[in-house]
Amino acid sequence: MFISSLTLTNFRNYRKEKIEFSPNTNVIYGDNAQGKTNILEAVYIFSQGRSHRTKTDGELIRFGEDFAKLGLEFHDAERDYKAVLQIIKNGKKNIRINGVQITRLSMLMNYLNAVMFSPEDLTLVKGSPSARRRFTDAAISQLYPRYLTSLIDYHKALMQKNSLLKTLKTSDARSDTMLSVWNDRLAAEAEKIIKYRLEFVKLINSFASRVQSEISKEKLEIEYLPGIKCGAYDKETIYNYFEQNRYREIKLASAQVGVQRDDLVISVNGRDSRLYGSQGQQRTAALSMKIAQADYIENIKNEYPVLLLDDIMSELDAHRRGYLAERIRGRQVLITSTDTDLKFSTDRTRLIHIKGGAVI
Ligand SMILES: Nc1ncnc2c1ncn2[C@@H]1O[C@H](COP(=O)(O)OP(=O)(O)O)[C@@H](O)[C@H]1O
Ligand SMILES: [Mg+2]
Repeated sequence: MFISSLTLTNFRNYRKEKIEFSPNTNVIYGDNAQGKTNILEAVYIFSQGRSHRTKTDGELIRFGEDFAKLGLEFHDAERDYKAVLQIIKNGKKNIRINGVQITRLSMLMNYLNAVMFSPEDLTLVKGSPSARRRFTDAAISQLYPRYLTSLIDYHKALMQKNSLLKTLKTSDARSDTMLSVWNDRLAAEAEKIIKYRLEFVKLINSFASRVQSEISKEKLEIEYLPGIKCGAYDKETIYNYFEQNRYREIKLASAQVGVQRDDLVISVNGRDSRLYGSQGQQRTAALSMKIAQADYIENIKNEYPVLLLDDIMSELDAHRRGYLAERIRGRQVLITSTDTDLKFSTDRTRLIHIKGGAVI
């Protein structure tokens, strides 16, 4: 799929601007703090319903204004889409696609798919488990609204269980029935969540290891590390496992086991790259995982997502740039950079020069 135009009104440092894109490579260049990342952010919001760098929608509105409006035209093999997003100060966000109001974020998944890659994505490999869960959850949610629903339901139940655990004493461990009610609810959602995660990890592992070996001849392996260590992942086994942990959870006054503790182990040549990987290996692994995410979307939707590459050119050596350029040939990519001298450019590349929140 590809985007063809973006209009920004009072979005970040843009007053009113329309930007047109090539279905192939688009290089968005300019000095620092001119508004390059803001463009990728605007596109990304249409795919995820929220910004990749802020939780507060109000920040997206141009200083001193009281609303922002974004318009995006995009296309897949079947249809053309016109999306409009409005953010009102202290109010709600409103998205319409081809006139249809998007009332739940999970509805967005049926429209634009985009994958963003920026230098901060090194946390995927180096950071805490939560960074890897966010990656996993965002990737699966983008394709399966039902996964997102399960995740939300799971976390609501988990909050309830945690409040309950704070009120219980260890002498209640055998008798309290409410705890079993929550464990039952959690086990039902955990079963579904784990199914999706296992499937995702299997695919991402096979795509990412291929990318890594093509770039560097290294063997990359991504494994699912379950927070529920009971071997089997059917509801009943999970429920029994939760029940076995009652005493410990009451004693510690919070849930100790569950999918909220899941992680991924990312190893390069058999060693955990979080602990033993060189900076270069970690960078390549993060890149491999993002390309794998794009492949995963293509595998399931038969549409390659729009790739948003923020400031990564300075991070990649010539060899990896060349590989990346080759790998995504024919697909749409938006790349930001402070210079135009990119090995990436081809004659079909569109150059977009940004200065002070405007295209020049
Ligand atoms: N709500 C806002 N209103 C006006 N300007 C903003 C807003 N949010 C960010 N900016 C400005 O946007 C610029 C940063 O844009 P960004 O796209 O991150 O730059 P870069 O070109 O380095 O990627 C800064 O000058 C910042 O002051
Ligand atoms: Mg930037």
